[in-house]
Amino acid sequence: MTTYKLFLLAGDGIGPEVMAEVEKIIRHFASEGVAKFEIEKGLVGGSAYDAHGAAISDADVKRAADADAVMFGAVGGPKWDGVPYDVRPESGLLRLRKDLGLYANLRPAICYPALAAASSLKREVVEGLDIMIVRELTGGVYFGEPKQIIDLGNGQKRAIDTQVYDTYEIERIGRVAFDLAKRRGNKVTSADKRNVMKSGVLWNEVMTALHAREYPDVKLEHQLADALGMQLVRWPKQFDVIVTDNLFGDMLSDVAAMLTGSLGMLPSASLGDADPKTGKRRALYEPVHGSAPDIAGRGMANPIAMIGSFGMALRYSFGLNQAADRLEKAIAEVLAEGLRTADIKSEGSRVVSTAEMGDAIVAELAQQAAESVTDEEN
Ligand code: IPM
Ligand code: MG
Repeated sequence: MTTYKLFLLAGDGIGPEVMAEVEKIIRHFASEGVAKFEIEKGLVGGSAYDAHGAAISDADVKRAADADAVMFGAVGGPKWDGVPYDVRPESGLLRLRKDLGLYANLRPAICYPALAAASSLKREVVEGLDIMIVRELTGGVYFGEPKQIIDLGNGQKRAIDTQVYDTYEIERIGRVAFDLAKRRGNKVTSADKRNVMKSGVLWNEVMTALHAREYPDVKLEHQLADALGMQLVRWPKQFDVIVTDNLFGDMLSDVAAMLTGSLGMLPSASLGDADPKTGKRRALYEPVHGSAPDIAGRGMANPIAMIGSFGMALRYSFGLNQAADRLEKAIAEVLAEGLRTADIKSEGSRVVSTAEMGDAIVAELAQQAAESVTDEEN
């Protein structure tokens, strides 16, 4: 049986609560003999800052790089509002993305039938939705230099962020999007602001050339990023794969999350290139939601985005597609039975705690396993 090394970084706020539920899922799959999981844990965000004055230690970055997959919870909270910018909780996550070369962020937005009513949009707009946002994650304005605030000496200050993209960065994220589209609806929508930004002009040019050269059989469409935001809430089912830069992807994926009912539903995978020798690719899995300090410690957070992120690890890092399918089915089943955390509650549903939701999904997995044994015996 293969052993996979998992590095858990639960972080702050609701991070540890939702991570505890993922541990139940891991233990369950291990008990079934699906694979062996070796688990290590580290600190990130405010909790790392409290422990050693940095948002992640060098040692934990190294352990993350050595793992087969990193499971990441969430970082930040009002407690650390005053800490220096360089060591703010978010910098731990940004360092991991950069140092591990995790340039491809996959954010699937799937609306489970049982949750169509939880979305703020009309049922017919979101029901059956299945789109994939591919966000560039290690470039653009998040990391561009210079990035600073200058004192102009006349009572004024000037803030500078730099939006910068090289051809190779656009090409490699484009390939991820086109490759995914081939296995889905065969359509890519690329979003940029070429009407205002030079980086948008290059983004558009490179996507167009890559498409003509390597993916002529996939349908490519360009939209301006602001218009795409509008289309996402108008008629999201027109999309299959959306590819866009770091900042637009950050914003558009929060919008997409609400199409699925709640920010508590959206998982994500951040992937690097495969190592040419071992075939192994660095990977980090995290929910799209943040640390939600307002509900932290109250046992009411929705663990589904975090659990779904582990599902993505099963699929993209371990190739355990059957286990990933089963986990997705278990989540859909529990929702169909009417179990809801507070964020997705609706009339007639039963509101459960974070732990109860995790337990219900494990119970569903156990039932699937029992049923498949019965099937084999019959
Ligand atoms: C996300 C988050 C992060 C980002 C923050 C926490 C730095 O919003 O993953 O979408 O902006 O990328
Ligand atoms: Mg975000």
